Amino acid sequence: MSKIIVLMGAPGAGKGTQARLLQERLGLPQISTGDMFRALAEASTPLAEEVRAVQSTGKLISDDLVIRVVHERTNREDCKSGYILDGFPRTTVQATMLERLAVEQGHKVSAIFVDAPFEVLEKRTTGRRICPVCGEIYNVYFKPPKFDNACDQHPETQLIQRTDDTAEKIKVRLETYKQQTEPLLEYYKASKRLFKVDGMRDPQKIYEDIEAILTGDD
Ligand code: AP5
Ligand code: MG
Repeated sequence: MSKIIVLMGAPGAGKGTQARLLQERLGLPQISTGDMFRALAEASTPLAEEVRAVQSTGKLISDDLVIRVVHERTNREDCKSGYILDGFPRTTVQATMLERLAVEQGHKVSAIFVDAPFEVLEKRTTGRRICPVCGEIYNVYFKPPKFDNACDQHPETQLIQRTDDTAEKIKVRLETYKQQTEPLLEYYKASKRLFKVDGMRDPQKIYEDIEAILTGDD
């Protein structure tokens, strides 16, 4: 059965890193609500201004807006054989919507929890740098680029840092995560659809763990 792979985990746990590997190897689209809203925030419209303001605080965007965006995106042709959700659902309302969507689209939902201790999340987020051309994710502590602040594949391009990747914002993001998103782990666990991977392993090894889980869950 075609699958919706939900990547769960705290800010900086490694959802995006794994979602990119899954997309590359399984050929399923990676749908990151964080990336979609960062792109949307670049426009100069009142909605973009609103999204920018919320994202920069580390709090969540309204369920109504997120649900509309996810509904529209996942009904496109490239999602017919399944897709990878990175950063969605994050609230009970969003999880309920996803259940309906999965039935409507004929997909099975499997949630992968990338488990990383809170102590490492600050370094993972403050040290993160991203290539604006290809989206490759680096880290000055754990995965430095070959050239100083430039992408390995696009050496002419300077890497960027997210505005919410500051020590101060990470506190808010973690708090938001604990209050609104962490309870969803129990929800998926209760219906035996939660699979945990050790987020402290090497990213390639984590990917192999996820691949084994998905194969066994078919
Ligand atoms: P979003 O963009 O989803 O941010 P997040 O959940 O805080 O997660 P991150 O992207 O920070 O971390 P990640 O787990 O993807 O880690 P990564 O792989 O990059 O959301 C941002 C904002 O958008 C929210 O605060 C909210 O405002 C809004 N939003 C988004 N979705 C929403 C929703 N559904 N509802 C409402 N609002 C929403 O890795 C992090 C770093 O660690 C990198 O530098 C990487 O190189 C490194 N790293 C990764 N894996 C490893 C490893 N195994 N070992 C060592 N280093 C590693
Ligand atoms: Mg991410």
